[in-house]
Amino acid sequence: MKIQFLNVGIVGSGAMGRGIAQIAAQAGSQVHLLDTQAGAALAARDSIHDQWQKLVGKNRISAEQAAAWSAQLHIVDNSAGLAHCDLVVEAIVERLDVKRGLFADLEKVVGPDTVLATNTSSLSVTSIAAGMQRPGRLAGFHFFNPVPLMKVVEVIAGLKTEPAVCTALCEYAKQMGHTPVLAQDTPGFIVNHAGRGYGTEALRIVGEGVADFATIDRILRDQVGFKLGPFELMDLTALDVSHPVMESIYQQYYDEPRYRPSVITAQRLAGGVVGKKVGEGFYRYENGAAQVPA
Ligand code: NAI
Repeated sequence: MKIQFLNVGIVGSGAMGRGIAQIAAQAGSQVHLLDTQAGAALAARDSIHDQWQKLVGKNRISAEQAAAWSAQLHIVDNSAGLAHCDLVVEAIVERLDVKRGLFADLEKVVGPDTVLATNTSSLSVTSIAAGMQRPGRLAGFHFFNPVPLMKVVEVIAGLKTEPAVCTALCEYAKQMGHTPVLAQDTPGFIVNHAGRGYGTEALRIVGEGVADFATIDRILRDQVGFKLGPFELMDLTALDVSHPVMESIYQQYYDEPRYRPSVITAQRLAGGVVGKKVGEGFYRYENGAAQVPA
């Protein structure tokens, strides 16, 4: 089993993949980015460069450091380009069939000791591994958005995950400057299970007409002390990511009413009003600043 991750593949270069790529390069790895959407990996690499240039501007890192990290980022066109990786982390769409298909492809090209990891928010690691030739090499490696700032990562063992895989991922998380937390392979793991009520109850309060979303955010942020209100958080995560997570946890707990997703988020998702990344969610975003719609 590889315990040194010199070459790390990242599949999916959206919000999460690019964040994981950034901290993997900062940890000293050569990072290989793969995305099926044309131009997405290139856009991710540019955005990571911008993050490092901002740090240079604030005198937090030197220009030489930024250049050295930038040289560690590589783009590959297909899974064959990840053949030599010691670790491959996927951060693609949250769908069991697609993730299973990806790991089946990866197992055809990577070496026998390569560790595979999924950044899934809510799917069972055991289920993702079920179709694999060697399910013991897969673990959950669940980061939070924005990855460079959110310093906790859940390391999740599926039913067949080899303990050495979790140990190696915990060590690597520390190299990345993150704090690993071991979690059981249960729906939502720790954070997305414990945090369920934050969003679902806030949505119920809106649905019952008790208060509007901006008032709930303001109270929970300014009076209770959360960094972000539940609607600000949903806008940041984006409903195309968080609504399927709500559905998945609800289904996995056999339709437990406490976890029932909201028709409010279902409707907004159907309408494409998913959050900050498209300029409009519960709030409208002008130059990055949240505005309450009239
Ligand atoms: P995103 O939509 O920003 O990015 C996903 C990327 O994966 C896109 O660029 C897409 O083109 C690419 N992609 C899709 N299928 C692919 C495939 N088969 N091969 C290669 N690339 C593919 O999504 P985001 O937010 O980065 O989420 C990715 C994963 O991380 C999901 O499983 C999500 O549940 C999980 N996650 C998301 C968090 C969030 O706050 N956004 C937090 C923690 C986990």
